[in-house]
Amino acid sequence: MMATAIVSESSPSRSGSIVELDNVTKEYQQGSLRVQALRGLSFQVEPGEFAAICGPSGSGKTTALNLIGALDQPTSGRVMLEGRDLSTMSRRELSHIRRDRIGFVFQAYNLLPVLTAYENAELVLALQGVDLDERRRRVMKLLADVGLEGMESRRPSELSGGQQQRVAIARAIAADPAVVLADEPTANVDSETACRLLDIMEKLNVDHGVTFIFSTHDPQVFERARRVIRVVDGRIESDVRQAGSAPSPAPSGDTGPTK
Ligand SMILES: Nc1ncnc2c1ncn2[C@@H]1O[C@H](COP(=O)(O)OP(=O)(O)OP(=O)(O)O)[C@@H](O)[C@H]1O
Ligand SMILES: [Mg+2]
Repeated sequence: MMATAIVSESSPSRSGSIVELDNVTKEYQQGSLRVQALRGLSFQVEPGEFAAICGPSGSGKTTALNLIGALDQPTSGRVMLEGRDLSTMSRRELSHIRRDRIGFVFQAYNLLPVLTAYENAELVLALQGVDLDERRRRVMKLLADVGLEGMESRRPSELSGGQQQRVAIARAIAADPAVVLADEPTANVDSETACRLLDIMEKLNVDHGVTFIFSTHDPQVFERARRVIRVVDGRIESDVRQAGSAPSPAPSGDTGPTK
């Protein structure tokens, strides 16, 4: 089986961290110009963390998330996911990791416009070959968890920005990933909607142990993280654990994602 092959080819985890960056640099070539996006980034994220990467525009947040999500490769240094060095993996292994172990939430939602909310949330499970009944059970519960009950058959164009981002969150956690990477998940919504999205993420984190790493430059958002990694000019300026805000009250029915 694929998973066995992946584990046997990788170095063992030293720390039990889900994510580990070790002196990671990233350079982009822009014509004759070299852009140093990351200049030696090192940090670890443990299971169950609710961590924000914050910093000004251009500081390297998206670059860091892309490297953790195996969407891009570092120029130097090492990125480990669940103890496995991503640079040692084949393209096929990486695509399995992206599908099975990482949930992605992007600023621009990235939902497929022709699919309904239900179908978007279901996609990864379908790709994994999870059977139809199980898929239905999980996805209906998840969509209810993120407050979209009754909107399952709407297409993204028939949903508000905040509702679309909730679909994206449901999609990201549907396959029970090791970590959800969210790049500016609240950037395109108003502050009240941002607050509600944070409530949902926080609840998934607190009640169901979903690990989140999200980027933001919005203080209203990073103040709610329990850890704030501040990146400036491709380097960590500070890495502070703070008391998280109290988890918000459970929505009616106290439902959570189905494992
Ligand atoms: N594909 C690319 N080619 C060239 N330069 C790039 C590329 N992607 C990012 N950069 C540069 O790398 C630096 C870091 O970019 P990055 O997108 O990681 O910043 P960010 O912190 O996510 O910013 P924002 O808050 O605006 O999203 C910037 O100087 C950016 O211009
Ligand atoms: Mg960015």
